Amino acid sequence: MRISVVGCGYVGLVTGSCLAEIGHEVMCTDNDESKIQTLNKGKLPIYEPHLDAIVSRARQVGRLAFTSNASEAIGAGDVIFICVGTPPLETGDADLSAIDGVARMIATESQSSKLVVEKSTVPVQTGQQLKRALAAYSHGTKVSFRVASNPEFLREGTAVQDFLHPDRIVVGVDEVSTEQQLREIYKPVLERNFNCPLHAPKCPPTVLPPFIVTTINSAELIKHASNSFLALKISYANALADLCERLGADVEEVTRAVGLDPRNGPNFLRAGLGFGGFCLPKDVQAFIRLAERAGMDFGLLKEAEQINRERIARFMDKARHALWVLKGKQIGILGLAFKPHTDDVRFSPPLELIRQLLGEGALVSAYDPQAMEKTRAIYPTVRYEADPYSVAFGADALLICTEWPEFAALDWPRIHASMARPMILDGRNLLDPAAMKALAFEYHCFGRNE
Ligand SMILES: NC(=O)c1ccc[n+]([C@@H]2O[C@H](COP(=O)([O-])OP(=O)(O)OC[C@H]3O[C@@H](n4cnc5c(N)ncnc54)[C@H](O)[C@@H]3O)[C@@H](O)[C@H]2O)c1
Repeated sequence: MRISVVGCGYVGLVTGSCLAEIGHEVMCTDNDESKIQTLNKGKLPIYEPHLDAIVSRARQVGRLAFTSNASEAIGAGDVIFICVGTPPLETGDADLSAIDGVARMIATESQSSKLVVEKSTVPVQTGQQLKRALAAYSHGTKVSFRVASNPEFLREGTAVQDFLHPDRIVVGVDEVSTEQQLREIYKPVLERNFNCPLHAPKCPPTVLPPFIVTTINSAELIKHASNSFLALKISYANALADLCERLGADVEEVTRAVGLDPRNGPNFLRAGLGFGGFCLPKDVQAFIRLAERAGMDFGLLKEAEQINRERIARFMDKARHALWVLKGKQIGILGLAFKPHTDDVRFSPPLELIRQLLGEGALVSAYDPQAMEKTRAIYPTVRYEADPYSVAFGADALLICTEWPEFAALDWPRIHASMARPMILDGRNLLDPAAMKALAFEYHCFGRNE
């Protein structure tokens, strides 16, 4: 099928390249000219495992192209996936101006009728507004538009795997023909009938993903409901951590056992610095605002948000308690991305932590395997080091802020020997407290016996 993708961020690039990987002809566009130039030079504006290889192969075989010419991009597809950003407004509502802008562009540039698919995360009833906008902006032309919602559930760091091997594909549609068209697009994934770039020679024999067909309103709500539920789980684990600290229990032991009950599940039950990134914080906010406008006070989510907001303050308290005065102290930060295996620092807890540490006069050095360039653009005064050992050298404390697996495997005796004061504040409960104590570190973490 001929597909256009509008927006070449995380979701747009993964969607476009994976749709090309499974056999479609895809043209992607973005209103950020520099992004298209970067892509056309064969580089990626983001780090995401496997994406590089998939994009370059799809381009080589001529199934994937990038253009800043919106008219060319819109003309190239019978189906258009909207993947633009929906950042939070001051009020917490989702800013839908990019979606509106794209609707105008599609309506004015289309020479033939199209299926327009919302992949961006949007509040319920956006599909209805999108339909009205497309009709209004294309007034007087002969083209018509169908609209569908197809929320994206990919996780940064495993986005390609998530797209090609999803847990479910949700489509919100108004017509059977739209359902059929989307089923056709996803057929190779639904039947696992494509040359998987991740699992040569054969994918593991897991269950095939269900294709869930709903109304457009339900599909939109499913996305906000899913992300908000994940946020609730994280905040629940964090509240448990605080209680464990007060009562002398170990939150890792508690959440492990809780998670082994299949009704609870083990994922997203990790205590630590809390959730960040471009999705969870803004989606929870937008869901709260959406409920408010529908006349419902979603207190449950407000509490989860509040618990999350307090994580940085709790960590700063731990740092102050351990180091007494922060001003003038050399603090090493390990991890800047909001989660491992990505270079995304949007709403990343370590960045808020850095802001507060610098505000108190601490001297901050940092290392992250992928996210230093993006952080440098925001905090140029931080000293960025080439490896974790240089961050630790001469430091008064080392703060673990992102759970990159390689941090767990560092040469900790070497680090101990090189620090001015061998102290670790483990914001992700990555290390074993007993092992750290055995190495004579002063070790602090969340909700475990220290
Ligand atoms: N990042 C994730 O993990 C993830 C996962 C699922 C859903 N989502 C949702 O998908 C959407 C996109 O997220 P993202 O992380 O890819 O954002 P992003 O900021 O990385 O990408 C958005 C892109 O859209 C472009 N854009 C904005 N307005 C445009 C316009 N009028 N015309 C063309 N291009 C335009 C921007 O330049 C940018 O490159 C958001 O709604 C987000 O909530 C994100």
